[in-house]
Order: sequence, then C-alpha cells, then structure tokens
Amino acid sequence: MTAETVFVAGATGLVGKPLIHRLVDRGHHVRALVRNDPSATLMLSMGAEPVLGDLAAPGPWQDHLGDCTSVIDASQARPHGRLTAGRANRAGRDRVRFTQNLLEAIRNGHSPLGSYVWLTGLDELVPGPDRFVDETSPINVRPRGFGRIGSQIRPVLEAAHQSWGLPLVALHMGLIYGSVGWFPDYLRRLQRRRFALVGDAQTFVPLVSAADVARTIVAAVEKRPAGRRYVVVDDEPARQGEFVRFLAERLGVPAPQRQFPLWLAGLIVGRAAVETAASNVRGRNARVKSELDVQLEFPSYREGTPPLVEEFVSATQGRNAGRK
Ligand SMILES: NC(=O)c1ccc[n+]([C@@H]2O[C@H](COP(=O)([O-])OP(=O)(O)OC[C@H]3O[C@@H](n4cnc5c(N)ncnc54)[C@H](OP(=O)(O)O)[C@@H]3O)[C@@H](O)[C@H]2O)c1
Repeated sequence: MTAETVFVAGATGLVGKPLIHRLVDRGHHVRALVRNDPSATLMLSMGAEPVLGDLAAPGPWQDHLGDCTSVIDASQARPHGRLTAGRANRAGRDRVRFTQNLLEAIRNGHSPLGSYVWLTGLDELVPGPDRFVDETSPINVRPRGFGRIGSQIRPVLEAAHQSWGLPLVALHMGLIYGSVGWFPDYLRRLQRRRFALVGDAQTFVPLVSAADVARTIVAAVEKRPAGRRYVVVDDEPARQGEFVRFLAERLGVPAPQRQFPLWLAGLIVGRAAVETAASNVRGRNARVKSELDVQLEFPSYREGTPPLVEEFVSATQGRNAGRK
C-alpha cells in the first residue's frame, strides 16, 4: 500500500476524529484543516499536521492542498437551532462555497489527485417500493431533509468530475452514530424521559457506526475508485421503535411510549431534521464490501452502540459526582 498525503476538511467532527485516527494508523500523512488553536493542538496529539483556516474563505490554507494525493470533505455547515427547511437550504449554500474553495485549491495544485471523497446522505436517493436504496437508485430531484444540502453540492462536484477529471468518490451514508452528535443527544433525552418517537415506530432507520464510516473512507482513499458511488450502512436495517427500546434497556430506563406526529416533531426539531429521521429508508452495502473490501467492525447497532452507551453513562456519572 502506498502512503497517501491526505487533506481532511471537518477533521474535528463526528466522522473527522475517527477518520484521522484510522488514516494515521494506516500510515498516511494527514493534513487536518482546523479553525482554532485548541483543535490544532488536538490534531498534533493525534499524529496529524494541523492547517489553520476557514473553508468559507479562500486563504493560505489552500496552499496545503497542492501536493496532496487525496482530499476528504468531512465538513458540515451545521446550522444552530432547529433544522428547518430554510436553514438546511442555507447550509447547502455554505457547503457549496466550502466545496468551491477546495476545488479552486486542487486546480491550482501541482500534484495529480488520486481521490476526492465526498460524504453525503441517503436522502439524495429514491428508494424502491421495498424502501431499499443502493448505488443504482435514482437521484432524488426533490431532496428532503439533509438531502437539501447534498443536492446543492452534487452538481458542482459532478461538473468538476466531468470537465476536468476530479477523481470524485461519493459516499452516501446512513445515520452515523458515535460519541458526539445526535447519538449522545438521543441518550440524554431517553435518560431524562424526554424522548418521543417520530411518527411510526415501524419506520426504518439506516444506521452505521462512525468507526465503520472511517474504515470505508480510508478504503476509498487507498483504492481510488474515481467516479464510483457507494451506499454506506451497516448490515441490519433497524426499525425506529426497536432501536430506541434497545437503547432504553441498555440505559436502564423505561422505553418511551410517546409518539409525535411528524408535523409536531417538525415544530420542535425542524422540518428538515424530521424528514431525515422519518425517511423510512434502508440501504444495501454490498458494493462497499465487494469493491472496497470493507469488513464492518459493527454489523449492527446491537454490537456498535453498547460501548457508546457505557461511555455515556460513565461520563454522566462522572459529571454528577463532580457536582456533589
Ligand atoms: N452525521 C451523520 O449522521 C451524517 C449522515 C450522512 C452524511 N453525513 C455527512 O458527513 C459529513 C461529516 O458529518 P459530521 O456529522 O461528522 O459533521 P460534524 O460533526 O458537524 O463536523 C463538522 C466539521 O466541519 C467543520 N467545519 C464547519 N464549518 C467549517 C468551516 N467554515 N471551516 C472549516 N471547518 C468547518 C467543523 O469544525 P469545527 O470543529 O471548527 O466546528 C467540524 O470539524 C458531512 O458532510 C455530512 O453531510 C453525516
């Protein structure tokens, strides 16, 4: 395996941190874009070279892409508060600017790029009647949920792929659970008995662990399958009700009985967030296994979530003990 020089945008995020660990473990040289000094110190401690900069604005950070052999965009312009449709659309426009700044730096660079890995969601794909999506699923022309972000970036990347050969690899990922982001928030609400199911308990939630997302991205960097796209989910599509019951049991709290209709959940967390949460989609991951040789560490939430629940419980106990 050849060691790659990889530029990572979004290095401090839910996906970014396990990704940096995996890249460094595999012997790649990693440049991690960060927005402040504490994040730079963190990246150094993880074995990556920090690059200070803001994706929203062109700047000296772009000079660090010129000799990279791979670029991974794991950034997200996360809006504050409820994820309304308007905020998701605005986040999409921000991400387009981020993408254009990355592409400008790549075009001005002097090394041929092996892969540009773009992370998007399943909301962009139209499921079949059985609610499955895979790499043959058509692109949704009326995107919902987080797909409102991806659908704005896609044309920019595809134009670059077609017009000047950007080696684009698109990863359509399910809901990613890990030790930060929506998953600990879910646990917190369950623990405080403030959880409600969104719509029908029988709807599918396409899950994948952040650790397995990191594995898949690194496999894409190493195999360089330019022009290909992949659905990245675990092996076992879960239903919302059973997933939440499993987590409640692990936390030792009663399973929530409250069920909010979509319109009410939309008022609370925002329409776009509900559209993704209730998308009722499941994915097939056969291509990731056959072409990228990825072996999932966590084939389902049953293996992947218990260590995170334990981590969450001990952090909560630690905080409570500190307050006494
Ligand atoms: N989470 C999911 O369930 C999910 C599902 C499907 C697809 N995805 C995709 O996966 C990717 C990563 O998602 P995530 O959940 O890991 O995101 P995240 O945890 O919200 O992390 C976002 C990252 O982007 C960085 N960032 C934001 N604005 C920036 C800017 N202006 N300049 C430089 N860096 C900036 C943040 O840096 P700071 O630390 O400085 O804020 C952070 O490192 C996204 O593209 C998302 O669409 C996620």
